[in-house]
Amino acid sequence: MRVVVAGSSGLIGTALVAALRRAGDEVLRLVRGPAQAPDERRWDPPAGRIDDGAVAGADAVVNLCGAGIADRRWSQARKQVLLDSRVEPTEVLAAAVAEHGVPVLVNGSAVGYYGDTGPAPADERAAAGEGFLADMCVRWEAATEAAAGARVVLARTAQVLSSRGGLLGPLRPLFALGLGGRLGDGSQFMPWIHLDDEVAALEFLLRNDISGPVNLAGPTPATNAEFTRALGRVKHRPAVFSVPTFALRAVTGDLADEITRSQHVLPEVLRDKGFTFRYRTVAEALAATEAR
Ligand SMILES: NC(=O)c1ccc[n+]([C@@H]2O[C@H](COP(=O)([O-])OP(=O)(O)OC[C@H]3O[C@@H](n4cnc5c(N)ncnc54)[C@H](OP(=O)(O)O)[C@@H]3O)[C@@H](O)[C@H]2O)c1
Repeated sequence: MRVVVAGSSGLIGTALVAALRRAGDEVLRLVRGPAQAPDERRWDPPAGRIDDGAVAGADAVVNLCGAGIADRRWSQARKQVLLDSRVEPTEVLAAAVAEHGVPVLVNGSAVGYYGDTGPAPADERAAAGEGFLADMCVRWEAATEAAAGARVVLARTAQVLSSRGGLLGPLRPLFALGLGGRLGDGSQFMPWIHLDDEVAALEFLLRNDISGPVNLAGPTPATNAEFTRALGRVKHRPAVFSVPTFALRAVTGDLADEITRSQHVLPEVLRDKGFTFRYRTVAEALAATEAR
């Protein structure tokens, strides 16, 4: 397959590009600066431009771009950046997919779509929730509409667990110091997926006739308290206290509200279509991130 990847320098993109190449696929990477390598093609999402020939003839486009959700404290201005860096590029790619008749678009999205589900499990049929992330995901997914003629997958991804970054990036130093603890009261569900399974699932979605929303989340949901206990165990630092929401808010801004929401998300479509997860529990996934 010839696959065009946007956001290829990110955590998931880097791992996906490597996996596709290992499988023998040809990958072209869209870059926002000047193209410097033979596999790079320039695009400028705010200007709505993609290099001639970048998308034509592709078998699939994978869109994994967007400014980092937890990289900075959330302000109104930061929220606008998070939104614009997803919606605009998606519109540009969807239009290119339609123009060049590319048969498949796998587009990033997030389990944030569901908002706060409370303890009730949500699969792909659940409605969008409330809050900034949910609204952002709705607009991000709607931006794929221009690609209506293609098979469009909305890859609603959970927190990706990896030794290379993701959610564990900011939490790791806290645990190393013995300061990591439950967030809020710890009863909220916290969807997770190991990077290897995230990449394998994206490949599975590229190669199988599946369309619409797909939850990329580990098969055994974990509460924040369970997650924190498992993380404490792999770090050999028992998490004995909780981080109060006001302290979290002081550090992260409005992101605190999103982190302490409960998201009991089930990967129903992947399960139904026969995808096999390598890491079935958060404890297994976290242990694997430490082992590397
Ligand atoms: N990691 C997670 O836990 C997680 C969970 C749920 C959803 N997701 C979503 O999945 C996608 C990929 O995640 P990731 O963890 O790989 O993200 P990442 O490491 O932050 O990488 C995202 C990539 O997006 C591109 N990008 C950054 N700012 C941009 C901007 N202003 N406009 C356009 N592109 C921009 C960059 O690639 P280039 O420099 O190559 O353009 C960057 O490497 C993101 O949309 C993310 O929100 C991730």
